[in-house]
Amino acid sequence: MTIELTRDGHVATITLSRPEALNAFNTAQLRDLLAVLAEVKTDVGIRAVVLTGAGERAFAAGADIKEMADLDRAGGLAFGRLGHAITRGVETLPQPVIAAVNGFALGGGCELALASDIRLASENAVFAQPEVTLGIPPGWGGSQRLVRAVGPGFAAEMILCGRRVKADEALRIGLVNAVYPQSELLPKARALADQIASNSPLAVRASKELMRLAFNGQAISGLDTELNLFADAFATTDQKEGMRAFIEKRSPTFEEH
Ligand code: CAA
Repeated sequence: MTIELTRDGHVATITLSRPEALNAFNTAQLRDLLAVLAEVKTDVGIRAVVLTGAGERAFAAGADIKEMADLDRAGGLAFGRLGHAITRGVETLPQPVIAAVNGFALGGGCELALASDIRLASENAVFAQPEVTLGIPPGWGGSQRLVRAVGPGFAAEMILCGRRVKADEALRIGLVNAVYPQSELLPKARALADQIASNSPLAVRASKELMRLAFNGQAISGLDTELNLFADAFATTDQKEGMRAFIEKRSPTFEEH
């Protein structure tokens, strides 16, 4: 199983566990996560969720580039839809989700953290939306949710340059609420989850839903546009070149206009 679900009292912990690929998401892992989210959604005993990555190096290193490399437009659209179902699933989960970002949160990993309600980071956390270096735009909601989280200027620098943001900078720009040593990250996330779980479940669920309304209808149509442009990228040679270059451990040469 590439996703672990544990329960302790009213708190569930979901652990992304594909260590051989730094927890990068392939289709199997995305489907496992979708099933776990469905299980959590209907479990009224769960009042708060902690989401983290297995090991000490990565929360998730993004979508699986080796799987995406040979996709055509239809394949890109299907993969994008699955990722959107996950990030939307986290965002609309009735229970609050705390992302405990314990290392790399790149591409789809960053987007999953962005779909969570609260982000905490370990000191070695690194955030980035490196999609343009691979010949695609962000595809799992990052183009919309990163702008909302850190504002258009910083989001533009991260998305257009693929620039990495380390934990201390992530704290400064409001991408995370707090930074802790690796060993303290999960206990701190758990303490926050316990605090949420001690409040009225109905009021907490209503509050989460209400805060989501601040992410208005325009942003929902932005998500639809993102999905289409993400799929379009899979019909380009730049996407093939960008992902081949990653797999072959060389720099890409982009030529399409
Ligand atoms: N997909 C597939 N495999 C990945 C991966 C990914 N996103 N990230 C890491 N891996 C694999 C590597 O290929 C490597 O496997 P092999 O041992 O078989 O070569 C293994 O995980 C360990 O990675 P590295 O050897 O590269 O480890 P490192 O410490 O040198 O570098 C890293 C770590 C900086 C995270 C680097 O692996 C990296 O840059 N990964 C890609 C990150 C990325 O670009 N993510 C965005 C993907 S696109 C996306 O997510 C689209 C979207 O919007 C949904």
